[in-house]
Amino acid sequence: MKRPFYSRPKRPNMSKLAVLKLGFGAMVALLVFSAVEGYRIQEQSSRDTAAIYQRFVETGEQLSHMRRLLFSASLIIRDYLFSKEAVRSAALRSELRDMAAQTRQSLQTLEHSIGHRQTGELREKINGFLGTVELTLPWPDKQRAAAGFAFIQSEIAPRRGAVSGVLGELMRVNQQFLETSRQQFAASWRAAATRLSIMLVLCIIIGVVVAHASVGHVSRLEAQSIRRFEEVMQAKEELARLSARLLQVQEDERRRLSRELHDEIGQTLTALRIEISHARDAWLAGSPSLSTRLNEAHFLAERTVNTVRDISLLLRPSLLDDLGLEPALQQQLEDFSRRSGIRCTFEPARLDDTLPDAVKTCVYRAVQEALNNCEKHSGASWVRIRAFEDERSLTVEIEDNGVGLEVNRHGAASGPGLGLIGMRERVAALGGRLTLASAPGEGTKLSLTIPLGDQAGSRTAPVGAETAEN
Ligand SMILES: Nc1ncnc2c1ncn2[C@@H]1O[C@H](COP(=O)(O)OP(=O)(O)O)[C@@H](O)[C@H]1O
Ligand SMILES: [Mg+2]
Repeated sequence: MKRPFYSRPKRPNMSKLAVLKLGFGAMVALLVFSAVEGYRIQEQSSRDTAAIYQRFVETGEQLSHMRRLLFSASLIIRDYLFSKEAVRSAALRSELRDMAAQTRQSLQTLEHSIGHRQTGELREKINGFLGTVELTLPWPDKQRAAAGFAFIQSEIAPRRGAVSGVLGELMRVNQQFLETSRQQFAASWRAAATRLSIMLVLCIIIGVVVAHASVGHVSRLEAQSIRRFEEVMQAKEELARLSARLLQVQEDERRRLSRELHDEIGQTLTALRIEISHARDAWLAGSPSLSTRLNEAHFLAERTVNTVRDISLLLRPSLLDDLGLEPALQQQLEDFSRRSGIRCTFEPARLDDTLPDAVKTCVYRAVQEALNNCEKHSGASWVRIRAFEDERSLTVEIEDNGVGLEVNRHGAASGPGLGLIGMRERVAALGGRLTLASAPGEGTKLSLTIPLGDQAGSRTAPVGAETAEN
């Protein structure tokens, strides 16, 4: 299967981070809300409990107080009706008035705390009782002695009984109020507790989801950073190998040039000088071998010209500067085809003459390296080169039908060579992208895309850009 050579790193997914932040925020907000709600419920319930008990106790105390007043009033009225001394009677009368006032005051307090609706009957009965008692206050001694006992029996006792009955009923109602309040309070407490539990369960669910998402997110980030680290380490190693290789290539080039100058041009020029001197001797002697000598000298001079051309082409293809990228590529392909015997097809798409110099050099050298690889490694019978350009980028594809190669998981060739790495560095220096698609037995396709715009021309070519590789 063909695999791409280079993949642009993806930007981290920001929306995922925003969702995580939102989840954390919601969880914290729910926790804070639960705590505040819990505190509020606790406060409210202690206030409610205190109020309920206060009302119960106060009402109970007032009812008991009234019962005591009623009991004392009964005793005093009896003493008053049976008293025969004028002074004592006057004191008891005053006590009775005082008692009646206290009872009415107490009734008012009770009305205030439990309401008129509940105390209506009590007021009626108390007024009846006190009214009856107050009837006897203007009685003279004789009338009290004569009718007192019967009056107590027939008028006062039944009314006192009625008041006592209503007081007993109110005490029962007070007890019932406590019970009902307790039940209501328990019900509202249960509802509040359910509300709190729901919020806590919600909080736990959000917490688990957010924790799960965070762990997943962090693991993905960790895996991503490990991958990036590996890529950086590989790039570093490649860079170190590349710089070592650059120095070696430079040294090899110099050695080759010096050998070429010495062995080829030096030897040929020496031979040329000898031939010219032989030709001069032949001319002076009028020998017929003059034309053979001159032919030999011409051949040697031509050979030197060719050698110099080859060397200069290797150093820097003058066609690139003189005629532009397309003719230079054409020339290169013809030379390659002649040299290697591999059939070449070139499909250019009217490349722009004003392409930046760095772009032209990059493409020329990349094609040169790809053709070298084709000849050295692929065993291909044909190679096809296509180039196309739009206003934003230039793309060049070099494809062969050779043995192909194993592409590693970083999308690079698994072999130790530096040609492809150098090619990628060149393309990357121009902000471009190189992809290698290949697999054993499936041929090889190299594509390089270089952006055309301000940055393409302004970028500088990598170090050693003018040195032929491999
Ligand atoms: N067109 C191709 N067909 C088959 N194998 C190739 C091709 N191009 C490159 N390779 C393989 O990739 C390796 C790396 O190539 P390169 O980086 O140019 O280094 P070098 O040419 O110095 O070996 C080569 O050794 C070869 O095994
Ligand atoms: Mg190579």
